[in-house]
Amino acid sequence: ARPKPFSRPLYVPKTAVPVHRSKTTDFYEMTIREAAVQILPGRKTRVLGYDGMFPGPTVRARAGRRVVIRQWNRLRRDAVVHLHGGLVPPEHDGHPADPIAPGRYRDYVYANRQPPATLWYHDHSHHKEAELVYRGLAGFYLIDDRPERCPNLPSGRYDIPLMLRDARFDKHGQLVFGMDDDNGRNILLVNGRPQPYFKVCRRKYRLRLLNGSNMRHLALRLGNGAELAVIASDGGLLPEPLPATSVRLSPAERVDVVVDFARYREGSRVVLYNTAGSSDATRRVMCFHVGERVPDCGELPDELGDKFDLGDAEVVRDVNLSTDAKRGRFLIDGKTFDIDRIDMRIRCGQTELWRVHNRDRRPATLHNLHLHGTHFQVVERNGRRVSGHETGRKDTVSVPIGGNVTIKVCYDRHLGRYLYHCHLLDHASMGMMAQAEIIK
Ligand code: C2O
Ligand code: CU
Repeated sequence: ARPKPFSRPLYVPKTAVPVHRSKTTDFYEMTIREAAVQILPGRKTRVLGYDGMFPGPTVRARAGRRVVIRQWNRLRRDAVVHLHGGLVPPEHDGHPADPIAPGRYRDYVYANRQPPATLWYHDHSHHKEAELVYRGLAGFYLIDDRPERCPNLPSGRYDIPLMLRDARFDKHGQLVFGMDDDNGRNILLVNGRPQPYFKVCRRKYRLRLLNGSNMRHLALRLGNGAELAVIASDGGLLPEPLPATSVRLSPAERVDVVVDFARYREGSRVVLYNTAGSSDATRRVMCFHVGERVPDCGELPDELGDKFDLGDAEVVRDVNLSTDAKRGRFLIDGKTFDIDRIDMRIRCGQTELWRVHNRDRRPATLHNLHLHGTHFQVVERNGRRVSGHETGRKDTVSVPIGGNVTIKVCYDRHLGRYLYHCHLLDHASMGMMAQAEIIK
């Protein structure tokens, strides 16, 4: 029941509309509920969705302006909403110990005092985030700059968020979830639909790429290896645009790129490939249909965001990711997640150097690391400097098999308890998660 590749248009999730605006704050309301949506032709697939949408509505926040989202839980089970990449105090961060009970609501408050960036919100239920995110509880949360400061970048309908993830369907078109079933998830979805096409004009577009997969790593490349400009990483704009022909994203990582479709003739077809995919349904991501020329926003600025450098580290730590295959558990520093245990204490404002090791050589298992409550700087991977979007502000970084990555970390916003975990969500749900307490 799979559609022909590139036979259906891209779905762009609708932008959420505030129910109320005050001088300082935009108020939203969303309902977490079950829904049936058309993903495959002629089928209705049961999903979980924010407002019943798959993916959820896109929230567009403005830097420095507060957002409050009232999340109603209409599931028969607990739900928790985490703003991934948000520098949010612990009580609004969506901790698994702090769920919304069925039938209740919670107001999440986001100050948006951080650089403009592509964030996303998703479920974080205790031991259940993998399944609930897989079934649809994820959406974009974009922080835009104040209009007077906006650099000259494609905006409005030329600024498109793309959530890429894989899925597995049964013969009735229903989502199949099995823990650690990454091989079974054999079809890629873009904003919740398989292999769409998208009509573009001959001009520049900003594409906000999110790897929303539970487990799958992506290596993205335009057909014929065309150049794109990488302009932002997880946490905001890079100091300058960086040319690239491909980008790699582990689960939860984002990159904003600018693609200039004016380079193509009207009528061309440009395919976005995932060169890490092994079948047609995981290799050919989507197709751009190039239309006519329209006025463009001019050259990309050479200066975008601030340079991000956390300075010298005062403390050095090791963080070890490993698997206890016999027990089917995933561990950080030899321990499985305990919601009542604090795994490390960190001084607020102190820069630390973390050497993060992937100890799983046999069987070879990929991992990554995501920190709540802060952005970090990637120094090197397996002793080599990183490049491209990994030079910017990050909240998630891949940790190679049998290797390591060194990051500089500084929690300088709020005191309290924050999670850190592997964002291969099946691993996180099976225990590869820990918590840091930020102290004075
Ligand atoms: Cu994207 Cu702890 O999460
Ligand atoms: Cu992992």
